[in-house]
Amino acid sequence: MRFDVCRRASEPELMDTEDCGYEDLRDCLRDLASVNRVTLGYRPTLGFLARMTREGRMPIGRPVHIVDVGSGYGDTLRAIHRWANRRGIEVRLTGIDLNPWSIRAAREASLDYPKITWIERDMFELDEVLGDRPDIIVSALFTHHLDGDGPLRFVRWMEDTARCGWFVNDLLRHPVSYWGFAALARLFRWHRFVQHDGPLSIARAFRRSDWHSIVAATEILESKARLESWFPFRLCVSRVKTDVIPN
Ligand SMILES: C[S@@+](CC[C@H](N)C(=O)[O-])C[C@H]1O[C@@H](n2cnc3c(N)ncnc32)[C@H](O)[C@@H]1O
Repeated sequence: MRFDVCRRASEPELMDTEDCGYEDLRDCLRDLASVNRVTLGYRPTLGFLARMTREGRMPIGRPVHIVDVGSGYGDTLRAIHRWANRRGIEVRLTGIDLNPWSIRAAREASLDYPKITWIERDMFELDEVLGDRPDIIVSALFTHHLDGDGPLRFVRWMEDTARCGWFVNDLLRHPVSYWGFAALARLFRWHRFVQHDGPLSIARAFRRSDWHSIVAATEILESKARLESWFPFRLCVSRVKTDVIPN
């Protein structure tokens, strides 16, 4: 694959296409959790939740319902679970993933996390399965998996569905990140999917101009969705619904 900083790559990732056994996919997801730790991947999402709390945008008097789309191994929700417990914030957490083996791996890794529910579903076919509208929708390393108008449909859905706000935590398409991650993945001997899909994910990821176009197409006022760069090489989009009284 040739890396082109000017446009998103369209090659599919191995983890989305290759038929592998459960243990193989679980090992890949475990290594992805290790990538998240090594690259400080939870900080942007936890930082967003801290901001929502600080600004009084979280409902009080009942558990805050947070949904993680494309939850994979579930490590982001477990990090949120620990974060909330440390602060005495009551939460109800839901992970959604279309891959049954991701859901199984997340469930098996979360036996000590009673506040998390796992749903196996394509997020574009969620229908009524969530019941009440969640308060907050987050995703990590998910949007770059979407092709065509997928990112736009996803942002529209979050805007319509989340009561209080939403947060996209994803990668920045950047040559240093592309070549640097390939070297890091070899150094850590991460799973072959991670070695292959990591640089490809960066090539499939976004730049600021991509997100500006997506947000503009959703007709959310640009001033209401915030683009945030996080070290190293994450580009995140946040939305806090300041016009809604959280209850
Ligand atoms: C790269 S993994 C990210 C996992 C995790 N969020 C993390 O930060 O490590 C992307 C996940 O999104 C899931 N996924 C892809 N398309 C999806 C869709 N349309 N609906 C739900 N899950 C999806 C995949 O099965 C995979 O588990």
